[in-house]
Amino acid sequence: MGKHKQLTVHDFAARKGSAQKISMVTCYDYWSATVLNRSDVDCLLVGDSLAMVMHGFESTVHADVDLMALHTRAVRRGAPDKFIVADMPFLSVRKGLERAMDAVQTLIQAGASAVKIEGERGQLDLIAHIVESGVPVMGHLGLTPQAVLGLGGHRVQGRDEAAARELMASARRLADAGCFALVLECVPAKLADCVTRAVPLTTIGIGAGARTDGQVLVLQDLLGTNPDFQPKFLRRYADGFGVVNGAVNQFHADVQSGEFPSRQESYA
Ligand code: KIV
Repeated sequence: MGKHKQLTVHDFAARKGSAQKISMVTCYDYWSATVLNRSDVDCLLVGDSLAMVMHGFESTVHADVDLMALHTRAVRRGAPDKFIVADMPFLSVRKGLERAMDAVQTLIQAGASAVKIEGERGQLDLIAHIVESGVPVMGHLGLTPQAVLGLGGHRVQGRDEAAARELMASARRLADAGCFALVLECVPAKLADCVTRAVPLTTIGIGAGARTDGQVLVLQDLLGTNPDFQPKFLRRYADGFGVVNGAVNQFHADVQSGEFPSRQESYA
């Protein structure tokens, strides 16, 4: 049993503009879910970034519904007490209502508490339909990695006046469609602040400054497991690479020297 009561969509609404911010981290597998289930973190995200972090693909476009469901089931088994958001993967909301609703059903039945959908253009009716069906939807604006080809790379969004105005309008439309929260990824801090104050959605930032209603990071990034990945927005809370590498090298050395296993670690 985790230490905390599982969040609900009402808690997200209550945290809007409050000093008690939402903390969200990605989680892709059973083992880390068991650790996070005992942590204070508010919410887990089975992000489609798992295609890159867990499977080594170059972008998130390689995730599909079956893959997302497989990871969501594992995370739910490890974290029965957490609010879990699962990403609707690349193009899963662009192939008609029925296929999109099948994908929503698969992810919710896999254990998700809500789904996250990138972008809004051409998707507002679908988002409203999902919400009307009783499934909470988290929006995602700014850098939307599934559109990386169209965006021309992973870069900061909403930098000029027109783009900022467009992002603000998109956020308002997502609120009208019934989203309960909104991820703002890689946008100027001032724009994220404006959206947070102007739009009735609980905003969760990544590379969006300190004024959003919450923050999200990829677990492996905050643990410092990849020394080569150091974007401006990332704070590393551990030297995960060093810890794992050091432990495994020590094991190797102990095997070579005969230090492991000791007599205490052997059966009589
Ligand atoms: O897939 C993901 O990890 C995400 C976060 C970066 C917000 O969408």
